[in-house]
Amino acid sequence: MHDDYSRALRALQTESRLRAIPPSMPEGMIDFTGNDYLGIAARGELQSSFLEHLAEQAGTPALTSAASRLLAVKQEEYSELEQYLALAYGSPALLFNSGYHANTGCVSALSDADTLIVADKLSHASIIDGLRLGGSRFKRFPHNDLNSLRRVLEREAKEYSRIWVIVESIYSMDGDSAPLSELVEMKREFPQMRLYVDEAHGLGVRGTTGLGLCEELGVLSDVDLLIGTFGKACASIGAFAICSEELRSYLLNTARSFIFSTALPPLNVAYTLHVLKAMRSMNEERMKLRNLSQRLKEGLERVTGKCCPSTSQIIPWITGDSALAVEYASRLRKLGFMAMPIRRPTVAAGTERIRFSLSAAHEPAQIDSLINAIATTYEN
Ligand SMILES: Cc1ncc(COP(=O)(O)O)c(C=O)c1O
Repeated sequence: MHDDYSRALRALQTESRLRAIPPSMPEGMIDFTGNDYLGIAARGELQSSFLEHLAEQAGTPALTSAASRLLAVKQEEYSELEQYLALAYGSPALLFNSGYHANTGCVSALSDADTLIVADKLSHASIIDGLRLGGSRFKRFPHNDLNSLRRVLEREAKEYSRIWVIVESIYSMDGDSAPLSELVEMKREFPQMRLYVDEAHGLGVRGTTGLGLCEELGVLSDVDLLIGTFGKACASIGAFAICSEELRSYLLNTARSFIFSTALPPLNVAYTLHVLKAMRSMNEERMKLRNLSQRLKEGLERVTGKCCPSTSQIIPWITGDSALAVEYASRLRKLGFMAMPIRRPTVAAGTERIRFSLSAAHEPAQIDSLINAIATTYEN
């Protein structure tokens, strides 16, 4: 078969933007690419205790739902997980197959003629795709720039009965956070405003019971739609939305990614619940992650002499150039450290970077070795 995509591929290659699926990571490398923030996947203890518990139990949850959620004949695992989440967050929960499904489904479903959606410029691709799918009017505001957002709200408030403002609690590429308390204040000024917060990188790692940055800041009840994902700190798969009962009902009637896709395997859903119950009390891991993150951020700033925007476990080393990001990542790999170069279109041109993603399974000595490796890489 002959597909004429070679020009496009050559262009990507020339711009150092050609992606490829990497081989399995060689033994002995220290991994800074994953989102296993609490080290749950790396340690494997919760997986073992889950499997032991299963062996003692009569009847194993199925490996497939064999239908979409609306048609699934067995609902126990889904309902149990949703009830757990609803109790924890204090509002109803709806499961989705992944964070990508949750954002594309919810954002597109929220789009209608009476609604304007305003999203932060650094929003994840799943949010952007949801905006495009929804086909309604949307605007983007410069990252974390509340003055620009306010100007949009002042200009548009009369035209729309609802204005959804979409932010991420912790941004996936810069590792900084949205000004959630100020956004909640803004809601009081603009009654049309609704707040949508994606907690993909906050769930598990922030808040006294790991519910995310909204819990830490005490603003959970002010958020109109909260998205959490299980594929990162929870070391599982899937996602959820927390919202009012009415909005939940609206979403399960309109979110196409919910309606038209096979539901998650019940076995995985049961595992997610097992993890969530344990995650509540992982404050030691949360504290360790915080200290490791601070250590790497300070070390990176010391070596490069540049300020790093991160306030979390995601630490970007912004090289500002694709080829340089690829070259530095390759040098780090030779020194035993796995970290991915992040290029356009994932980040804007001129902000290309290497993204270090930390885990409570890392040790301070590994962070110090990484800082030394960054220094060797940078100085040569
Ligand atoms: C902010 C944000 N939202 C959603 C997602 C998608 O989540 P999932 O991997 O569960 O599809 C990601 C994934 O990286 C993300 O960073």
